[in-house]
This record gives sequence, structure tokens and C-alpha cells, in this order.
Amino acid sequence: MAPAIANKNFMGKRVAARQARAARVSVSRRNARLVCKAGAYDEELIATANTIASAGRGILAMDESNGTCGIRLDSIGVENTEDNRRAYRQLLVTTPGLGEYISGAIMFEETLFQSSSEGKPFVDCLKEQGIVPGIKVDKGLVPMANSNGESWCQGLDGLAERCAEYYKQGARFAKWRSVVNITAGPTDKALNDCAYGLARYAAIAQDNGLVPIVEPEILLDGEHDIDTTLEVASRTWAQTFKYLADQDVLFEGILLKPSMVTPGADSGTKCSPETVAEYTLKMLNRRVPPAVPGIMFLSGGQSELESTLNLNAMNQTPNPWHVSFSYARALQNTVLKTWQGDEANVDAAQAALIGRAKANSLAQLGKYTGDGESASAGEGMYEKGYTY
Ligand code: 13P
Repeated sequence: MAPAIANKNFMGKRVAARQARAARVSVSRRNARLVCKAGAYDEELIATANTIASAGRGILAMDESNGTCGIRLDSIGVENTEDNRRAYRQLLVTTPGLGEYISGAIMFEETLFQSSSEGKPFVDCLKEQGIVPGIKVDKGLVPMANSNGESWCQGLDGLAERCAEYYKQGARFAKWRSVVNITAGPTDKALNDCAYGLARYAAIAQDNGLVPIVEPEILLDGEHDIDTTLEVASRTWAQTFKYLADQDVLFEGILLKPSMVTPGADSGTKCSPETVAEYTLKMLNRRVPPAVPGIMFLSGGQSELESTLNLNAMNQTPNPWHVSFSYARALQNTVLKTWQGDEANVDAAQAALIGRAKANSLAQLGKYTGDGESASAGEGMYEKGYTY
């Protein structure tokens, strides 16, 4: 090629690049008018959300309130004292190799500020393994006035100050669990309140550097069929995303924690993992923008085995988001039973945790077969009217 022509082409490319840059700038300036506020933490939120939503990993939900943790400890004959709660959480966060399968751990406020018996803050135990520390920030559910047994979630007052404290302590993501109860309606007022509360919380968490997990749990309770769950879940997520958008929440910096779409626990019907996956993904594809990095399911009272098989079925074809787990009961049931509050059982209990975490990691990758599972993995954990 003659040098003059090569130079002309080179110049042409530079002009084209400049024009493209100018076009991008004018587009982004035009869009900027639509954005009310670019948050100080935007880049960090996106990075945190993507770290948590990384291939083959999911979340360990270990944020039971002191009351709920007491119920768990009571089931194995262990007294609900601060030190016993600490010992149990130490077992979880010091499990060797956990970071290979677990990308984030949600803690209750008490746990976030606790340390191991050797004096190492739990936050550091997690970070050493590449696990992002998280914090439950809601203040629990209370009955909704003038409703048929519905509830609303407290915790917005003082939330910004608390989030700032949690960030200082090392937390980088948050959880707020609101519930939708199909047996009680759900009424529009309860559903709207759930969605609005989640959106207000998400905006405040992001403003303080915490990636919000958005969790409108649709309870398993009820005799309804799977189509009813699909309809209620679709309404719930439509409202939730409407309010998240209204609150200018950065979708790239959130994670969702939905219930899987199944028939009600008292319907007498069980659906196959393929059917649960088909309904759940249909609902999510209709409602969740692809800008959201991760969908981290709750187990909601399903057995360890069921929740892993259902997750695996959802990962048989590519999804627009990382589809993974954020289980409490379905990761901890066998662990607790193995531990029994006895120091001598810690290694075996940690091996049980690794077993469940690995099974769910394989399910996140769509490669779980269910081979070699213990009988206890098949035990259901559904409790009517479960509170967390
Ligand atoms: P389950 O997996 O036991 O439903 O709990 C998940 C959770 O963290 C609920 O908020």
C-alpha cells in the first residue's frame, strides 16, 4: 500500500474515532439529564455485586436473629447464649476452603462485630477466604394494621447511620427481607408496602456503599397451585422494580433474593425441578432487567436436596444473570445436626458445610447430579408461618 493512502486511512480512522467519541459524549450528556445523582460508591457497588455473583459461588445466609438462632440451637440441645452463638458462627466462618464455593456471608449485627476464640474478627476470617462480609439490616416483620394477617418490614429509621457503621466494620452488602403471604391475600397495600420498603432500603444501602440484596420472600405457606405463585411473584417483582426505578437505584449494583416459584406447601403437589425451573425463569425473564448481576435464591423451607436440584435445573441453559443461592436452612441443617454443640464434632460439621456448598456450587454451574447425598439432605424444613 502506498504511504500516502495508508496515511489517509490512518487519518480517516482517527477522525472516525473522534466522531464516535463525540457522539458518545453527547449521548451520555443527554442521558445525564435523566440521572438524578451518580452515587459516590457506584463503581465499588458494581464490583462488589459482580464478585458475589461469580461463577460457581453463592451466599451463605447465617444472619438468623438471636431469637431464630436460639430455635436452631435448641433443636440440638444447645443453650442460646451469646458465646454459643459465637462458637457456632466461628465454625461456619473458619471452614477451610469455604471461599471456593461461597462468595458472600450474611451476618446478624451481633456476629458482624464478633471475633473467633483466637481473637480474629469474623470479618477478617471471611475476607481471608475471599468471602464478602454482609449484614442483615432490616428490623424484622410486624403485623400490618387492618389486614388479614399480613406484615410489614421495619428498619428504615436510622438506616443510613447504621449502614455507614456496618461499612466501617467491613460489610459490603446488605439484606432486607420482606414477605408476601399468599394465604392472606396478598392485598395491594401489603404488596406495595413490601416493594416500596425494599426500594427505599436499597437506595439508602447503596448511598452508604452496601450492595442491597432485594428480598421480597413469597412464603411457601398455602394450598395454592404453582400458577397462583407465578401470578403473585410476577405482581410482586413488577412493583418492586417500579419502586427501585423510582428511587434511582443502580440496577448494576443490586442482587435479588427471590423465592422459587413452586406450589404452596399445603397443596399436596410437588413439582419436578424442571417445572420449578421453567416457572421461575419465566417469571424472572419477564420481570428482571439483564442489568442486574445476580439472582441468589432463598431455600424457603425446601430440603437441602430439593433446593440444590431446583437450582441445578435453572442452570441448564444460559441466563442473563448469574443464577445462584443464598441459603440458610438448606446450607446449615446437616451442619447443625453434625455439630451438636460439641467441639469434637467441629471438623465433621465443617466437612458437612463444604459438602453442601460444593453441591450448590455445582448446581450454579448446572453440573450437579445428586449422587452420594445423605438421607438428611432430603428432609424438608418447611414450617408454617416461619419467621426469620
Ligand atoms: P432460607 O434459605 O432458610 O429460606 O433463608 C434464607 C434467608 O436468608 C431468608 O432471608
